[in-house]
Amino acid sequence: MQRTERNSYNAGMRNSDKIGFPLHRPRRLRQSGWIRDLVAETRLAPQDFIWPVFVIEGENTAEPVSSMPGVSRYTIDRLVAEARAAQQSGIPALALFPVVDAARKTADGKEALNADNLICRALSAVKEAVPEIGLIADVALDPYTSHGHDGLMSEKGAILNDETIEVLCGQALVQARAGADIIAPSDMMDGRVGAIRHMLEDEGLQNTMILSYTAKYASGYYGPFRDAVTSAGALKGDKKTYQMDPRNRDEALLEAALDISEGADMLMVKPGLAYLDTIVRLYDNTQLPLFAYHVSGEYSMLKAAAQNGWLDYDSCLMETLTAFKRAGCRGILTYAAREAVDLL
Ligand code: PBG
Repeated sequence: MQRTERNSYNAGMRNSDKIGFPLHRPRRLRQSGWIRDLVAETRLAPQDFIWPVFVIEGENTAEPVSSMPGVSRYTIDRLVAEARAAQQSGIPALALFPVVDAARKTADGKEALNADNLICRALSAVKEAVPEIGLIADVALDPYTSHGHDGLMSEKGAILNDETIEVLCGQALVQARAGADIIAPSDMMDGRVGAIRHMLEDEGLQNTMILSYTAKYASGYYGPFRDAVTSAGALKGDKKTYQMDPRNRDEALLEAALDISEGADMLMVKPGLAYLDTIVRLYDNTQLPLFAYHVSGEYSMLKAAAQNGWLDYDSCLMETLTAFKRAGCRGILTYAAREAVDLL
């Protein structure tokens, strides 16, 4: 075809004859807020958020966590008030994390089994005062061990799997009895979901749910959390022999298959942002409700950048939380839950 002919052909073509554009102008559906809202593929609501909260001993105290601007550790009385406010704002559940006094930490983490320990007292106080809010309790020994690991340690420093599971079952039992609706094993021992499920059945706690930290990666993003619960200084080595290798993708599917077969009710990917691909793959390949943990480091870097005036906190927060929904999450654990509800 000669140049002139083609040019005249294009020139003579009516806009509506061309393929795609301009019959399809995606910008038509972006022209104003109401139409963008109408066609939005995902939405955030207060019901999407699980608020993780740190609990301390004492009375009437909210102690700021310096590495997590805007986050405080609360005494149980203050926690109850916060739980009530959160529930009234539409947040469906809290995930409680105890800050255990150093004097109560031992190599075997036996304080985890004390039915009157801080987390159990916190669970029962909130359950009694605000029965409408769901309570999630973490299962892992790191708040209680002097070495800061999630499991028991052999003399040679290895983290013992099966021995740890027995303690985790005891920990899950006291927490469930104290009022935890959901047990969330974050320890990454093999077989812990099944062991906890059987224990709960045997103890008549068949309605207690398990939210498994299915794909929990050995991540640097947990740094501020370890400050918040004061386990950072104590931790000997790293958690790479039990938490997942960040280089791995298919292994998350194996972990999910195991958790599902062992009786998990819900699955979680953690951290969230650096592992959105894993969230998508679990969403595509499993049926259970899926959650992301927007972890401490992800929260703190947003805060730090905003405090420096480098980015707009509100819009970046909502963008991040939206990303988890878009990837397929049913809900999100985030320290920014209260802020996000205010922004909605
Ligand atoms: C404990 C636990 C950790 C987090 C939740 N549960 C820390 C870790 O595994 O070292 C991290 C949460 C966060 O960074 O916000 N097993």
